[in-house]
Amino acid sequence: MVRHLPFLSLARKEGLVPKFILKSDRLLLRPPEVRDVGDIVQGLEWDVVSNLARAPWPYEPQHAHEFLQRQEEGRAHCTDFAFAVTEKGADSLIGMCGVHRREQGFELGYWLAKPHWGRGYATEAAAEVLGFAFRNLRAGVVEAGWFHDNPASGRVLSKLGFVFAGAEKRESAARGTRVLCNLVSMRRADFGRRNAA
Ligand SMILES: CC(C)(COP(=O)(O)OP(=O)(O)OC[C@H]1O[C@@H](n2cnc3c(N)ncnc32)[C@H](O)[C@@H]1OP(=O)(O)O)[C@@H](O)C(=O)NCCC(=O)NCCS
Repeated sequence: MVRHLPFLSLARKEGLVPKFILKSDRLLLRPPEVRDVGDIVQGLEWDVVSNLARAPWPYEPQHAHEFLQRQEEGRAHCTDFAFAVTEKGADSLIGMCGVHRREQGFELGYWLAKPHWGRGYATEAAAEVLGFAFRNLRAGVVEAGWFHDNPASGRVLSKLGFVFAGAEKRESAARGTRVLCNLVSMRRADFGRRNAA
């Protein structure tokens, strides 16, 4: 179940949903802008895109512009909150992390440009976005899915505390086929317990 903070409901009615900024030890997450299109297209090479559900291949600047437009509309309706992942002190986008509203709660998604893999950044960014979903958006549950041949993402989600919730074939737009996907989820109470500890 999705419960919105009163100020967010009001902001949505007024068309004034804030542009949130999140900070962790090493990262600053901010709304993506048109100036990020070049970095988005450069980052979305095959090894990245092939592990995402919706991004097409080849990924062209037009796709990034359309994505940004959908994000802007989604933020205004409180259904999509994507963040550009940047290193503190350097404004350029090195990846993206965000949540998208589903029937039950929100779905978490993320990617990092290949030169930045293996430094714990995905886990660090996703932890912030997860906190944002539970605290700011009052999500009851956050779900995620990882393709069976992408164990690094499975590891990120397990480090964050997600638990296995099933598996099914899901479409990969880039691969042009359905791929076995592990589904994981985290309930609000479990997030609270982990973060109180
Ligand atoms: C998945 C992805 C986001 C991980 O980013 P990252 O910043 O390297 O992730 P982290 O460093 O936070 O954590 C990765 C973990 O996976 C582990 N890992 C990496 N490759 C692995 C593999 N082949 N098998 C098992 N574990 C692996 C790492 O060792 C690390 O775990 P550790 O901290 O216990 O050592 C990045 O590879 C990516 O963008 N991939 C393409 C897009 C994608 O898969 N998005 C997610 C869709 S569900």
